Amino acid sequence: MSEIKLPEGSKMRNPDFIFGVATSSFQIEGDRENRLDTIWDTFCAGPNISDGSNGDVACDHINRWQDDLQLIFDMGVDAYRFSIAWSRVLHQDGTINESGLRFYTDLIARLRAANKKIFVTLYHWDLPQYLEDQGGWLNRSTAYAFAEYVDTISLRLGDSVDAYTTLNEPFCAGHLSYEAGIHAPGKTGRKNGLQASHHLLLAHGLALQVLRKNVPNAQHGIVLNIHPGYPNSDKHEDIVATQIATEYLFYWYIDPVLKGKYPEVMTHIAAEDRPDIAPDDMAIISAPIDFMGMNYYTRNVYRADGNGWYEHVPPAPEGLTEMGWEIVPDAFAEMLINLHNDYDLPDLYITENGAAMPDELIDGKVADQNRIDYFQSHLLAVDKALAAGVNIKGYFAWSLLDNFEWALGYSKRFGLVYIDYETQERVLKDSAIAYQNMLKSR
Ligand code: NOJ
Repeated sequence: MSEIKLPEGSKMRNPDFIFGVATSSFQIEGDRENRLDTIWDTFCAGPNISDGSNGDVACDHINRWQDDLQLIFDMGVDAYRFSIAWSRVLHQDGTINESGLRFYTDLIARLRAANKKIFVTLYHWDLPQYLEDQGGWLNRSTAYAFAEYVDTISLRLGDSVDAYTTLNEPFCAGHLSYEAGIHAPGKTGRKNGLQASHHLLLAHGLALQVLRKNVPNAQHGIVLNIHPGYPNSDKHEDIVATQIATEYLFYWYIDPVLKGKYPEVMTHIAAEDRPDIAPDDMAIISAPIDFMGMNYYTRNVYRADGNGWYEHVPPAPEGLTEMGWEIVPDAFAEMLINLHNDYDLPDLYITENGAAMPDELIDGKVADQNRIDYFQSHLLAVDKALAAGVNIKGYFAWSLLDNFEWALGYSKRFGLVYIDYETQERVLKDSAIAYQNMLKSR
């Protein structure tokens, strides 16, 4: 089994560079009966999930969390990033569901006792269904409801959390969910996508105000997915289409947060499709953050669609991950360096990076050399960005466990740890052992 090696002299070997693993509530928790329904429960009940599965049991993490934390401790990571299910900690009337909240306070206490850094995501897409019944992220009041939830919960968790993240990937929670229709609640339409995305960004800004007040000593930020775009050819129209796509799908989220405005591509959008924006919104959205989390998996290739817009060009079928994603660590390094050159960035954390691979459990082992190679090449990309001066403070592997991969159900495995969903047995993959050895060798 080959190893994951950090280059000699790399900043990733510094004691203040943290390594972690990440998960999210809906993808691992299960125990649906002790929380409110979410938009993902509703979505799973329809014909939307490729393997017909749902999050009712998932990894049964609610009942197995102590064993799962032991895996984290044995691996020797510095930090754990997980999300809180809004639907588990609050009742519909906004009061605290004490037993739901206790799950997280116990988890946090155990992590603290083991001296792990705690990164909490406050929204990883599992919106309570009753809010969707009132319009969900299309309704501006959902942003205020989010800020109230964050107020209630952050007052209770306080400084026991090192870093609070308002949202995970508003691109997915906005665009994929309300424009492309492939994530819950499965809505479509450009105006819907842009309005939902705007309300999500507003929710981030409003929650940030609350966090600054309630927990001034913790770090606060947002997690975006890095979405680098490359033209399919050097034709002018393909280059323009790539610029449009990248602004629409990526800069649409980073520019409001770091620059207080939407990118130029707004001018290509018909007036009736543009989001409604209240006068103070952009100032609220762009209040300074302490850190930005970046999730990276792949790049995207575009060409002109002949109508002044872009079209996605699927990659050639060889050498892809199980998601059909190209493995392009250079695009990761290049994007980080470009962002560093073009923006006044806060501290960066790579909050997710990893790959779904065709894992097989054979004789009690999962020989996932391909995943080890993926981590190795992407850590070298992080090193390249660090060497170029990008201020990256940590790296989280996605994911601790195989889990519910949204519209693809349990058919895609991203874990360092294999889950046998029949028995809920956990088996460390070779990649988990390689990650552990890398951490030991620092
Ligand atoms: C990003 C999301 O945050 C996470 O929930 C998902 O499982 C991974 N991407 C892989 O698709």
